Amino acid sequence: MAYLDPNLANKEKKIVDTTKKLRIGIIGTGGIANAHINSYKKMPDVEIVAGADIVPGKAAAFFKNHRIEGAKTNYASHKEMLADKNLKLDAVSICTYNRQHAVCTIDALNAGLNVILEKPMSVTTEEAVEMMRVEKESGKVLSIGFQPRLDANMQKIREIVQSGELGKVYYIQTGGGRRRGIPATRGTTFIEDATAGIGALGDIGCYSLDMVLKAIGYPKPLTVTGYKSDFFGKDKNYIGYPKGKGEEFAKLFGVDDFAAAFIRLEGGIILDFRISWAMNMDTPGDTIILGTKGGLRIPSTDCWNGTVGGPMKIYHEVAGSQVCTEIPIIPADKEYSLFDKKIRSFLDACKGLAPVPVPTSEIIYNQAIIDGIAKSSILGREIAIEIPQI
Ligand SMILES: NC(=O)c1ccc[n+]([C@@H]2O[C@H](COP(=O)([O-])OP(=O)(O)OC[C@H]3O[C@@H](n4cnc5c(N)ncnc54)[C@H](O)[C@@H]3O)[C@@H](O)[C@H]2O)c1
Repeated sequence: MAYLDPNLANKEKKIVDTTKKLRIGIIGTGGIANAHINSYKKMPDVEIVAGADIVPGKAAAFFKNHRIEGAKTNYASHKEMLADKNLKLDAVSICTYNRQHAVCTIDALNAGLNVILEKPMSVTTEEAVEMMRVEKESGKVLSIGFQPRLDANMQKIREIVQSGELGKVYYIQTGGGRRRGIPATRGTTFIEDATAGIGALGDIGCYSLDMVLKAIGYPKPLTVTGYKSDFFGKDKNYIGYPKGKGEEFAKLFGVDDFAAAFIRLEGGIILDFRISWAMNMDTPGDTIILGTKGGLRIPSTDCWNGTVGGPMKIYHEVAGSQVCTEIPIIPADKEYSLFDKKIRSFLDACKGLAPVPVPTSEIIYNQAIIDGIAKSSILGREIAIEIPQI
């Protein structure tokens, strides 16, 4: 099987070595686990050997649905699966809701396994720091699930910034969101505090942040003034709730449905951010990156879907004239999805063939911003972002 090296966008193909098969388990067999298993099934160097979900029978039904025979699923918890040494697991996908990310990751790393964890990394910065401590102690791979950064157009943003074409970047506006798009059609795990912990910020906001922070080299966040609200989620008449469920869902809603923030980053860069699951507006704007030599406009209101929303434009001067250069869209890779690339690059990191595709050393800053927004909003003032040395 040939595959595209995700770190090199569409430029290089490699052949997968199948002499050693990696034994994979899945923790949490809900919605996104389907994307993981579909990609694993395409990898010739993988055996899917086990799965665990806290809902009895859910993991068994999941594997049956995917026609994976022989995978063990009779575990009451992820801990039981991790303790089953007969499985000889090499790695796990952690696809639980946000509140279970930290505990499952820490337990899996402590069991000596490589981990690919769904985004957001965690709910709080403190959890993320603890996860990184255990990651360091274990020496295992921990990669976080931000597949849009493997899209060639997304990588072009970084290439443009890193080429120096924009000069010194000093201001970024990013975010986006939906007019009516609280994800509540498949249940309440995205909207309850006990399961999700964070709402639009953790569901889609983290992607907007990753898009721009990756481009500028993930500078450290220094301070944040954040705001979050829940006017739509707490409204029993919200039109996106399933019929007859408005009262129940509004009562259960315990996260943000809109957030905005002003963030200072190391290197004198300002990040102006807003994200929405629901608002009375079509979009809070494109992403713009302002530099001393040029400015980049990225139509990106749905960047979490994996790519930019249209051709990007650079506004700059050429020989004294103010011009605008359009960057052509790079077509999507028809052979391998972004999920395939995410899983492939993780497997290669497990084999020691490639760097960790989405390292915690970057995503800790993404997480600290999200958590900083939540904490600043509660306190009603700017806060300093402090991350202990790990
Ligand atoms: N990368 C992406 O494109 C993408 C897309 C959607 C969701 N996500 C992320 O994936 C995560 C899961 O989302 P989802 O839509 O699959 O949610 P979901 O609620 O459908 O599934 C989560 C599953 O985890 C199980 N679970 C919770 N704690 C567990 C534990 N300790 N052990 C075993 N099972 C446990 C639940 O019972 C449930 O079946 C979220 O963090 C979300 O942000 C990522």
